[in-house]
Amino acid sequence: MLKGKSLVNIDDVATDDIFEIFKLASEYKKKVSKGEVLSELNGKIMATLFFEPSTRTRLSFESAMHRLGGSVITVSEAKSSSASKGETIADTIRMASSYSDIVVMRHPMEGAARLASEFSSVPVLNGGDGSGQHPTQTILDLFTIWEKFGRIEGLNVSLVGDLKYGRTVHSLIKALSRFENAINLISPEILQMPEHVLSGIKNQQNIRKISNLEDVLNRSDVFYVTRIQKERFVDMNDYAKVIGSYSFDLATVSRMKESAIIMHPLPRVDEINPEVDSDKRALYFTQASNGVFVRMAIISMILGVR
Ligand code: NCD
Repeated sequence: MLKGKSLVNIDDVATDDIFEIFKLASEYKKKVSKGEVLSELNGKIMATLFFEPSTRTRLSFESAMHRLGGSVITVSEAKSSSASKGETIADTIRMASSYSDIVVMRHPMEGAARLASEFSSVPVLNGGDGSGQHPTQTILDLFTIWEKFGRIEGLNVSLVGDLKYGRTVHSLIKALSRFENAINLISPEILQMPEHVLSGIKNQQNIRKISNLEDVLNRSDVFYVTRIQKERFVDMNDYAKVIGSYSFDLATVSRMKESAIIMHPLPRVDEINPEVDSDKRALYFTQASNGVFVRMAIISMILGVR
């Protein structure tokens, strides 16, 4: 049951609830594509507090709320809120939660969403906390895999790129490893998946560090490519060493299985050449548009109307 709950870490969501979200997201996807106008969240208000840049996450949450007939109040820039005057997260969230029925927050500090959920009088959805977690992104990632393969188990999944700072992969690996999936980790040496993420995972035997992408290119079902998180580097000399580490072009993609899919949470920088976009294996734009339907499902379950 998600009703009334905050969603800070992917571990907060039971597997049964993940499948409930999939069902409801599919239903909403059909309804929206038929042009149905929904009103189940009439009178409800969502506050979106984004203290870090965002395009897809904020817009898809806001679109989801509007599609359900609710409304949105927003802070889209740290400098336009009282955080820039030194207000604490605790005080900001106390106020925002008294103005709304549900809060979505993105913040550069790992742990910020957990802290916010402790001071909030309404459910808090973590829209990304530093290098921590991004649970709703993970649910929409899983939904995209489920739509394509009809399952989220028995797959060979390669996570590629910045596995150290990328929060989407920190949540995703936890969710994928609840099921029997072979997971390959492919990253530059200095951007490996942190031990604190790996140590919390049960099926460790299904996870392998791979040094060469070529080794899994014709074997993986899912390639989940990520951006090098430039903004999180402490030393820009380190960033210079890893720029352009992975670059998927049509030549790379032609060596993949016909049935494979390429995902990316976006924004991409240079990891995937735009020439790949028209290949049928490129699923990142579908993935991004699924964000609205999955978030509609999550919001309406948390607010208890479904
Ligand atoms: C990601 C994020 O913010 O963690 N973007 C997103 O939410 N879709 C990935 C990224 O910024 O690289």
